[in-house]
Amino acid sequence: MDNMSLINIINFPVLGDGRGTLVALEANRQIPFEIKRVYYIYGTAQGVARGFHAHKALKQVAICLKGSCRFVMDDGKDKQEVILAKPDKGLLIDAMQWHEMYDFSNDCVLMVLADQVYDESDYIREYSKFIEAVNNHVHSSAK
Ligand code: TYD
Repeated sequence: MDNMSLINIINFPVLGDGRGTLVALEANRQIPFEIKRVYYIYGTAQGVARGFHAHKALKQVAICLKGSCRFVMDDGKDKQEVILAKPDKGLLIDAMQWHEMYDFSNDCVLMVLADQVYDESDYIREYSKFIEAVNNHVHSSAK
């Protein structure tokens, strides 16, 4: 993966009129997969960092509905960060992207759409195991 591909932001169409703003998200349209799960994180205490894992197969889109937070994305070779602070932008979290979240504002509501139901066996929670998996993948695809 090149450096550019670590931060993939999807800009959602904003349907606004005099009454305010509306964003609509549909599977396989604005969201590039079938949505099987939605979860959201809020009330995060000051100074708390979350994430610190990668998924073997899960694809997700993270949308900061309110407030802001910072993501660090890591493919095992490069790291890039992005601040999410707008409800009309989604960050694609692909499979095998180690991600860490920091600097949650007090009012942050971070919604995540996922293409699979919760499955702990899909998590890689140890960074050394993540690096091992990235290297194994590089070696097996080079054959
Ligand atoms: P965890 O994955 O540790 O959160 P983070 O994204 O910060 O790493 O999840 C916290 C707890 O919530 C953990 O006990 C697993 C549980 N959980 C579910 O039951 N379903 C879910 O969809 C998610 C994301 C977490």
